[in-house]
Amino acid sequence: MKDVASDSEHWAGAAAQWIAWARAPNHDAFWAYRDALADYLGTATGRALDVGCGEGRVSRLLKACGYTVTAVDPVAELVRAAEQAQSAHDYAIAPARELPFENESFDLVMAYNVLMDVVDVPEALREIKRVLRRDGTLFISIVHPLADLELLAETGPNAPSDTHARYFERRRFETKVESRGLTMHFAGWAQPLEAYMSALESAGFAITSLREPAADLREGRDHMSRWSGLPLFLWLQAKLLPFHT
Ligand SMILES: C[S@@+](CC[C@H](N)C(=O)[O-])C[C@H]1O[C@@H](n2cnc3c(N)ncnc32)[C@H](O)[C@@H]1O
Repeated sequence: MKDVASDSEHWAGAAAQWIAWARAPNHDAFWAYRDALADYLGTATGRALDVGCGEGRVSRLLKACGYTVTAVDPVAELVRAAEQAQSAHDYAIAPARELPFENESFDLVMAYNVLMDVVDVPEALREIKRVLRRDGTLFISIVHPLADLELLAETGPNAPSDTHARYFERRRFETKVESRGLTMHFAGWAQPLEAYMSALESAGFAITSLREPAADLREGRDHMSRWSGLPLFLWLQAKLLPFHT
């Protein structure tokens, strides 16, 4: 079933929750990976596009790295929040499948924890390819497939009795997380790594770098200790293959 409307609809309903969740200092996982992400990105110049920017924290990091940043998200409330926090230099409201930019306009396209929310990942990657310069870099963060299995075992439809791993299926997840006074509804799809690889390949991308960052437990992040022994996120950098049409 291709339900194109539903990917950003969930986020439109969860926007206020997300802004509170993402902006509470040290609250969610992002904070335990932010320094490693900054190190991995390094300092840079050029134009970066932050696809699915949310309230703007990754845009702010890209800006701090030296990029001229355009932040785009299909949810107007999130783009407004990103703009209010001066997260980027430019802003647009659009889904990944329909980016309102010229061909080959960006040196870096960032899709940070976004592709799990996208109905049609191959379509999104083809559109990202269109706006990326031929020598540009695509940066993707997804929930690590190992973490997906672990989380699904706890929160999946039949948990905790459903012990049959279903790694090879594309699986819908919808979950409400309550943590330290805040609530967040997440929804999206978990899918095998091979599905991401195949979407990258067919769009003409080759993976050039991969990281499995461990959570940084400093600064009172004991609540993240489980993710110091298991990867929560998978980071990929990809480049366009020459001669791919
Ligand atoms: C988990 S949040 C991540 C936000 C931000 N990248 C971050 O890491 O803080 C997922 C984001 O993806 C956006 N999103 C959902 N469907 C999308 C789509 N089809 N195209 C682009 N972004 C989408 C949501 O609106 C939301 O802002």
